[in-house]
Amino acid sequence: MEATNFSSSTITPIGAGMASRTKQHVRLIGHSQPMTALQGEIDRVSRSDAKVLIHGESGVGKEIVARTIHYSGPRAAMMFAPVNCAGLPETLLESELFGHVKGSFTGAYRDKPGKLESAHMGTVFLDEIGEMTLRMQGLLLRFLETGEIQRVGADGGARHVNVRVIGATHRNLRDMIAQGQFREDLYYRLNVIQITVPPLRERREDIPELVNHFLNKFVAANRSPITGVSAEAMKALVAYSWPGNVRELENLIERMVVGVQHDTIELHDLPSEVRAQDNVAFRPRRERRRTVADDLYTRLTEQRESFWATVYPMYMAREITRAHVRDVVRRGLEEARGNYKIVARLFNMESREYKRFLNFLRKHDCQLPFKEYR
Ligand SMILES: Nc1ncnc2c1ncn2[C@@H]1O[C@H](COP(=O)(O)OP(=O)(O)O)[C@@H](O)[C@H]1O
Ligand SMILES: [Mg+2]
Repeated sequence: MEATNFSSSTITPIGAGMASRTKQHVRLIGHSQPMTALQGEIDRVSRSDAKVLIHGESGVGKEIVARTIHYSGPRAAMMFAPVNCAGLPETLLESELFGHVKGSFTGAYRDKPGKLESAHMGTVFLDEIGEMTLRMQGLLLRFLETGEIQRVGADGGARHVNVRVIGATHRNLRDMIAQGQFREDLYYRLNVIQITVPPLRERREDIPELVNHFLNKFVAANRSPITGVSAEAMKALVAYSWPGNVRELENLIERMVVGVQHDTIELHDLPSEVRAQDNVAFRPRRERRRTVADDLYTRLTEQRESFWATVYPMYMAREITRAHVRDVVRRGLEEARGNYKIVARLFNMESREYKRFLNFLRKHDCQLPFKEYR
């Protein structure tokens, strides 16, 4: 079987090249046209000090783009400080960004600098900036206008800091402005340079390279026997729509590396949602969404689960409808050319269960005329 092998020579040793200066630098993988263009943009942007706003779905690599900008530019030796604006309640976020003085709130046992101060001469990455409250947006705007910060609870003593600000969001900030949820003046302050990271399904050429990159990363860490991915499995990985983008791919590869005990990742090792794409490839090629029936059919015919353990209990529990059952049966009949005995075998039933199967279909009005499939 043809396998796409990856070689350990592609592993980037920690401390090599750029990384020696910038230990947190991560390489941006991908040579598709959009990624090459993005890399070019990053190179240009990293030389300047301009604020950047990065757009893109969750998991596309917005943070890694921000890191790459920081570590490719003159601020690389200084701090890159990520702040997740969605992860903290407002008061904690304020203290996270601006710092606080001892006793300014419960739990403030000592003076603490904020990220904007710690990252002086470096970069602060404001992730999920669309989730900031309007009050926080006001504080951020004031900082962007003056470059001055004041720790929470401090009176006087504003400090001037020099940080580059890079923001990111998966939201449409213009819509938020229209709805009064995001300040327009802050938007224009931040939006000096706009970078959009396209979803993975719009740059499928990057998938094999990313797969090999993550295999390298996880195989070494897990002492896994895996040496590559079969051609069919790679085809399915490329065809899948990746709603969770690169993060979903990375997590999947990690799970494979931990779970697969042979040397090549095969099609059957992949989760059904990824494999299902491959099934539809054998049918007339229409871009269509995976259906419940697709899933059930895969479980029956590929994961070799019995009809009695999958379709039947789900139908009885009303988790699926009669239409779903009929759809699954129709596929079985297509495959078996109208022979219900073969359908029963295809759906992993014992031959003595054949009668029960037909009775079930008759009783629930799921028995389709077999002649059409002959
Ligand atoms: N082009 C890429 N090359 C290598 N790793 C990537 C790439 N894009 C994303 N990743 C990885 O995928 C995960 C999600 O990326 P992240 O930057 O956190 O996405 P986002 O901020 O857009 O949600 C991270 O582990 C990141 O290192
Ligand atoms: Mg992120």
